[in-house]
Amino acid sequence: MSKDGEVLWFTGLSGSGKSTTARALVEPLRVSGRKVELLDGDELRQTISQGLGFSRKDRITNVERIVFLCKLLSRNGVTVIVSAITPYEEMRAHARAELPGYVEIFVDCPLEECERRDVKGLYAKARNDEIKQFTGIGDPYEMPEQPDIVIQTHVDEVESNVALIMDYLMTKTGRS
Ligand code: PPS
Repeated sequence: MSKDGEVLWFTGLSGSGKSTTARALVEPLRVSGRKVELLDGDELRQTISQGLGFSRKDRITNVERIVFLCKLLSRNGVTVIVSAITPYEEMRAHARAELPGYVEIFVDCPLEECERRDVKGLYAKARNDEIKQFTGIGDPYEMPEQPDIVIQTHVDEVESNVALIMDYLMTKTGRS
C-alpha cells in the first residue's frame, strides 16, 4: 500500500500570498519526486463548490469538500497543496483529524498589508459594503492555534518561504 501523501494546507487572509506561495511550491516538490496536485480555493469555487457563498455554513461545506478531495488524492500517494482561506479553527481541526499527512501553513500577513495590496479590489468593495461577510472585515479570521509552519509574505521573499517549507518536509519525512 502506498504511503499517504502530504497535504500542505495554506490558510490565511485573502491577498496574504497563499496562492503565490502554493504555486511556487509545485516545481520543487515535483523535482523531489512527488506527484503533486494544487487545489486552489478560487478555482474550486468555480467547480466543485460552485453556488456556495460565504456564510459560515457554506464555507464549512466548501472546506469539507476540499478535505474529501484531499483524502482521495493523498491516500493514493499524491502530495496535495491546498490554498483556501479556511478561516475557522473548527475547519482546520476537521482537516487535521481527517488527513494523516496534514501540514498546516499559516500565511501570517497583517490585514492592513492585505488591504493595501488589494490585488482583486475586494477589500475596497467590502469597505463599501458591496461585499458582506468578507474575511477580516465583516467575517472573522480565527488565528490558527497550532500551525505547523508560519510564513510572513510581508517580510520574506517567496523563494525563502518555499525553502522553509521544503526544509520542514525534509526534516519531517527524510525526503529532500
Ligand atoms: S473559505 O472561507 O475557505 O471557504 O474561502 P475560499 O474558498 O478560500 O475562497 C476565498 C476566495 O473567494 C473570494 N471571495 C471572498 N473571500 C472571503 N470572503 C468573502 N466574502 C469573499 N467573497 C469572495 C476571494 O477571491 C478569495 O480568494 P483569495 O485567493 O483568498 O483572495
